[in-house]
Amino acid sequence: MDNNNVQRDGFSSKLGIIAAAAGSAIGLGNIWKFPYITGIYGGAAFILVYLVCIALIGLPVMLSEFTIGRRAQANAVGSFKKLAPGTPWFLTGWMGFVAAFSILSFYGVVAGWTLDYVVKAITGAYVGLEPDAIGGLFGALISSPVATVGWQLVFMAVTAGVVMGGVKDGIEKYSKILMPLLLVIILILDIRAVTLPGAGEGVNFLFKPDFSALNAEAVLVALGHAFFSLSLGMGTMITYGSYIGKKENLGETALQVTIADTLIALAAGLAIFPAVFAFGVEPAAGPGLVFITLPNVFNQMAGGMIWGILFFSLLAIAALTSAISILEVVVAYLSEETSMSRHKATLVSAVAITFVGVLAGLSYTSVLGGVTIPLPGFGSLVVFDWLDALSANYLLPLGGLFISLFVGWKMVRKDVEAEVSNDGTVKIGWIGMFLILAKVVAPIAIAIVFLNGVGIIKL
Ligand code: PHE
Repeated sequence: MDNNNVQRDGFSSKLGIIAAAAGSAIGLGNIWKFPYITGIYGGAAFILVYLVCIALIGLPVMLSEFTIGRRAQANAVGSFKKLAPGTPWFLTGWMGFVAAFSILSFYGVVAGWTLDYVVKAITGAYVGLEPDAIGGLFGALISSPVATVGWQLVFMAVTAGVVMGGVKDGIEKYSKILMPLLLVIILILDIRAVTLPGAGEGVNFLFKPDFSALNAEAVLVALGHAFFSLSLGMGTMITYGSYIGKKENLGETALQVTIADTLIALAAGLAIFPAVFAFGVEPAAGPGLVFITLPNVFNQMAGGMIWGILFFSLLAIAALTSAISILEVVVAYLSEETSMSRHKATLVSAVAITFVGVLAGLSYTSVLGGVTIPLPGFGSLVVFDWLDALSANYLLPLGGLFISLFVGWKMVRKDVEAEVSNDGTVKIGWIGMFLILAKVVAPIAIAIVFLNGVGIIKL
């Protein structure tokens, strides 16, 4: 049911679009997830594969999503219905809906941990502690049902509150100044980290590739993370694309967002790994890596308390601007395709997501710690890890596959050209290259990495 008389909200300025799309992309994926999976999958070689995925797959898929969304002027499901009526393509939007739901469920948990660390930084909870004791603080947090779930509820309430305010007031205002500030703080942490005694080993870990550590699972995780980090494969950038003004340059925006996102991830890695080795933290420590490493760095800095407060606060805000964009996928769909008001759609989806999210939050506590669910290719995982792996390694890559195929093969070439060139007013000398990536390179690469990663084919 298309509701064409809905007044569509839009981004007011160029800075607004880049800030909102970058705000979506930059988040816990860059600072929490990228370092910890890099630690698990062996360092530099994993990062190289990740960068190739970003350039050859992430960038064209982002431009494809912007193109679909702005062309259709609709949410992730509605866009496919409008551009390809009467075909099953809208199922791609539906898969994105499921991905948004699973991602936000566990994302809210990690964002909740971040809020807890804002308080820890303010109260000086880790000041003067030895590395082991700092690790213990994190262990105590994630094993406490009250603390984990409590913070998660706070975070989800704030997210829902912002989304209710609508696109313009809700999203734009927050991202413009704060993301650049986050980068500045991370760069300052980089300087401290690489000058720690014993930092060299961490720098080697990041920059000296050891390809023997790479396996099929690592490559799929790198691809999945390219999607996760750039907010691709589930319609976030389709939805945001539909809010982008007709005069904005889509290719340029996609490139800028991709560069900003990648820089922040690499800078975060450089703040963390030298410290991991300097303080004797296990690189493969998993989801706690940032939280058990950086407090050691703050303890070694002049004004460390302030840096800690600033860092964790900005990380929480980065998480918020990403969470908003995930919830927006669900809310835009419900408010445009059903009779629900935006207000009601936000409430209903936030409550439903938080409900599943609590199961994710309890994954590391004694309540649900023993409960695991199998996922082909990844063994048996607790709810938190299962939702994460399902979305990043299955739903997003498959979503990206269908999105690139849609723009490459289903949409009429002249429509794609008209959309990315703003009806011929923007020079698009790279269009041939983009179409080759979207038609051939991205789909084939995704298919091979996916089938190999989940074990259907063996290379
Ligand atoms: N890109 C966000 C991050 O890196 C997470 C995200 C995934 C947001 C998918 C929207 C869609 O934290």
